[in-house]
Amino acid sequence: MKAIAVLTSGGDAPGMNAAIRAITRVAIDRGTQVFGVKRGYQGLMTGDFIPLGLREVGGVMQYGGTFLGSARAPEFKTPEGRKTAIKYLEAFDINGVVVIGGNGSQTGASALNDMGMPTIGVASTIDNDLIGSEITIGVDTALNIALEAVDRLKVTASSHRRAFLVEVMGRDCGYLALMTGISGGAEAVIIPEIPTPPQEVVEELSASYKRGKTNGIVIVAEGAKHGVNELLAYCAEQPDIGFEIRAVTLGHVQRGGTPTAYDRLLGTRLGANAVERLIEGEHGGVVGMIKGEETFTPYSEVVGRTKGVDPKLFALADVLAK
Ligand code: F6P
Repeated sequence: MKAIAVLTSGGDAPGMNAAIRAITRVAIDRGTQVFGVKRGYQGLMTGDFIPLGLREVGGVMQYGGTFLGSARAPEFKTPEGRKTAIKYLEAFDINGVVVIGGNGSQTGASALNDMGMPTIGVASTIDNDLIGSEITIGVDTALNIALEAVDRLKVTASSHRRAFLVEVMGRDCGYLALMTGISGGAEAVIIPEIPTPPQEVVEELSASYKRGKTNGIVIVAEGAKHGVNELLAYCAEQPDIGFEIRAVTLGHVQRGGTPTAYDRLLGTRLGANAVERLIEGEHGGVVGMIKGEETFTPYSEVVGRTKGVDPKLFALADVLAK
């Protein structure tokens, strides 16, 4: 394969830089030239390509985000947008594209592949909702950041006998919330997949207070039916709740961290494996990690679907909250 392009798309995720580095160095080792695409599909539609050599990808792994930049590019959803992208790729003699990203990004990669430009995906999103990988690049870092925030909130909460409603990211997926709740010892976890009536949150907090707990933590996924603001207003009107209630939204703070060792290794392994497959002629799917092995899942099984949370873990979180 003469040349490939690599891009990062959608929400940035810590560990993306490790993937770009691995893709570049493995491709160069196999005699393939590499172009980095600036700002995801946006740069693909304007021919914003930069040659990546061994040195261009040095010293990037320890930084979160993506040094190539990322964007959400609605024009790429149109056939015209994708035709323009193919025109630029052909002009640069590029015969394959590695797309590092989550659901929306892999949908775009699938459409490009269907139009005759070979693409392969690398599973990357802090949400962990992508089919084809048990864990995606960025999840571990985001989870550790959320966990550190919870540990800190517990310290101040205990001093005032307060309960905190903590909103974590995850779009429509409750994975980050559930894992933060379990590893942070939360009193309740509120996720989009299994709606919890506000009254149950009040009962849980009030029971915890009566059991003598000095603090309460409720992790609320951003996509939950009853969000933090609604819960805060509801809790404020409950005289028997015990705790004083405060709310905190972690938001993009979770995406900006220094990648953990796990995310650097995951980015490296998935990136290296994806580019090896692409150079050997395999394309039309996403490379992820399943049972400790790099695996390839066709776009047909990935696009338009999302991974749910494990209901057994949701039930366990409730038992452990006692
Ligand atoms: O998909 C990753 C994610 O961080 C989601 O958890 C969140 O809903 C969304 O991106 C936020 O998007 P943006 O960075 O465009 O505001």
